[in-house]
Amino acid sequence: MAIALKAGNTGIAQFNVESEPELDALSAVAASLGVKAPVAIRINPDVDAKTHKKITTGKAENKFGISYTRAREVYAHAAKLPGLKITGVHVHIGSQLTDLAPYEATFIKLAELVKDLRADGHNIQRIDLGGGIGITYDDETPPDPKAYADLVRKYIAPLGCEIALEPGRYIVGNAGLLLTAVTFVKPAEGKTFLILDSGMNDLIRPAMYEAFHRIVPVKAPNPEAELALVDIVGPVCESGDTFAEDRPMPPVDNGDLLAILSAGAYSSSMASTYNARPLAPEVLVHGDKFAIVRRRPSIDEMTALETQPAWLSEAKA
Ligand SMILES: Cc1ncc(COP(=O)(O)O)c(C=O)c1O
Repeated sequence: MAIALKAGNTGIAQFNVESEPELDALSAVAASLGVKAPVAIRINPDVDAKTHKKITTGKAENKFGISYTRAREVYAHAAKLPGLKITGVHVHIGSQLTDLAPYEATFIKLAELVKDLRADGHNIQRIDLGGGIGITYDDETPPDPKAYADLVRKYIAPLGCEIALEPGRYIVGNAGLLLTAVTFVKPAEGKTFLILDSGMNDLIRPAMYEAFHRIVPVKAPNPEAELALVDIVGPVCESGDTFAEDRPMPPVDNGDLLAILSAGAYSSSMASTYNARPLAPEVLVHGDKFAIVRRRPSIDEMTALETQPAWLSEAKA
């Protein structure tokens, strides 16, 4: 908080705050620095985004934001705190939304709330609508951004506020893929496993959200080739380290390259070094140009932060 608030820093437009203790803490830090933190409170509108439960963030039972029903009370509390300056309202109801109805329900509630907050004397200048517009992984038909914009125009624009949007997946989800090699084709009891050199540590979405990703051979297969059902898995010691089950695939051999598609969002950003696996390098491609924009760390770099406590060495001696 202090870094963000330091005078002359980056000029942060707004702190989106999730809870009353966070309001109190931000106010205390700002007051100690002699500044006022610009604040929006994240509202939990209790709207079902109709997406996977682990990326639903706007239902009453989710941990996010302040309940819609308590918003006025919490804004009144924030207005009394010495280190805060109320600037706006924030909402983000979830990710990978394929239906506009939850947005509409949210915007209607939000517009009502902004009117109430203004009637209570708060100077609401900015509305941050979060992100969440979904993409096509398989056969989903995500909303047309123009239809989304029409909703914003209808319900939010009349409030005369600055509007902030936070689309993530929609911009980058289908701009990236995970390039991987088949380490072994493993025949097993009644099935075949393709064991890849990428694992759940590189792309956790299938293990975490049962997410579907298209997986295609990099070298176009013979169009006449027969497809067989295979399980496509990683090398990590978890049965959940599975990218696809019973997936129809053309014949592939050890060493063949596969592309796991739609891996531009929440893949490398959620990656880990689980199983002591170095993070995969990131390669930026533009037309026929490419560049490694994050190289693979060495094992020495990965272990460089670890130290052995003196008392353990002493105990061994
Ligand atoms: C507050 C907030 N805004 C925006 C986003 C981006 O969401 P999406 O990638 O679904 O557009 C997220 C994702 O977690 C978020 O938590």
